[in-house]
Amino acid sequence: MEAATKPAEKTMQVRVKIWRYDSQTGDRALKEYELEAPEWVTLLDVLDLIKDQQDGTLAYRKSCRMMICGSCGMRMDGAAVLACKTRMYDIVQAGHVPVISAMGNLPIVKDLVVDMDPFWDKFKAMKPYLQPGYEEPTEGKEYLVSQERMNVIHKEALCINCGACVSECNAMESDPAFLGPQALAKGMRFVGDARDANTVERLEDYSGEHGIWECTRCYFCNERCPKGVDPRDAIAKLGAEAMKQGVDTDMGAKHARWFVKSAETTGWLRETELVPKTQGVISAISQMKFAMGLAVKGKVPPPIPPHVADRVDESRALRKLVKEQGRDGYAGIVQGERALARLEHEASGAHGGMGSLESADVTPGEEPTAGKAD
Ligand code: SF4
Ligand code: SF4
Ligand code: FES
Repeated sequence: MEAATKPAEKTMQVRVKIWRYDSQTGDRALKEYELEAPEWVTLLDVLDLIKDQQDGTLAYRKSCRMMICGSCGMRMDGAAVLACKTRMYDIVQAGHVPVISAMGNLPIVKDLVVDMDPFWDKFKAMKPYLQPGYEEPTEGKEYLVSQERMNVIHKEALCINCGACVSECNAMESDPAFLGPQALAKGMRFVGDARDANTVERLEDYSGEHGIWECTRCYFCNERCPKGVDPRDAIAKLGAEAMKQGVDTDMGAKHARWFVKSAETTGWLRETELVPKTQGVISAISQMKFAMGLAVKGKVPPPIPPHVADRVDESRALRKLVKEQGRDGYAGIVQGERALARLEHEASGAHGGMGSLESADVTPGEEPTAGKAD
């Protein structure tokens, strides 16, 4: 009997351009590579083939090859990707020659390898570990955290520290000291953890200069995160929770608070009052000449009498409803659609019926209420 022959693997011609860079010599060049590769290859496979067959000096990072370790972050055509998640087939079929370069907002060491030290410094600054304040449960008992409570940090816990969000962050581009999307998402992962007792201290730390309120809300981090963490949503949750907990002395927090007050009282954003309410009277006086110039051109409505919207009752009713529902703080931030779809999937029992877990919240300092230790 003849041995079965394996069908020939279908291949394609792949072309990529790679920005080569050597931080020691300062040499920089855009080099094009062409190779034959199986149709199933990812960008990471292509880099491996180039390194094996054409140029062993090409530098890039990798480890798991399956979107877990976060090592292979880089840019394709100016947007951050995980190389091991990026299939090449459609790109080749479209006749496109992508340009591959190192991630942004981090110093380049060589070719596609960036120095991750600034990234890890910010990560460590978030104190990314639990600081529980509760007593150890009595023997044979344990604290249980409800699935509903864990859902609060479901997205943030998906982060693999790849740096794709940091690469794309506009605020970090203008201020490299900004804590940035990855670190702040990590901060929310602990602020929202029912077992952590340092919520207010954390929010105070994260609300300072270069913190929560420095984000420009460009949403590029949500757009590029390969794991659906949606870091901008995490930052919004931190901001809302900071205000709920009274951590609101930063100008950004005052700005947000005035938005709410203004909409609640008149149904409009009263911009004329925004500067004094946010930056203080002295700062407002220093900008008076500019404000008068705007007023002369009809760009600033007179503050008195305040302009009240015809249907202001609707915005007041909406605010009342939000308060009645207890959706202050992070509970008021609607999660991204991708994350919600995932949560619904899990609640349906696809992962062992996690969604049906009924248990008490952990409240530091309170007695354990349920459960036997295994
Ligand atoms: S939304 Fe904020 S954190 Fe995210 S990329 Fe934009 S500026 Fe950076
Ligand atoms: S938030 Fe997303 S993009 Fe940013 S480091 Fe984590 S996994 Fe990567
Ligand atoms: S190699 Fe691990 S995430 Fe790509």
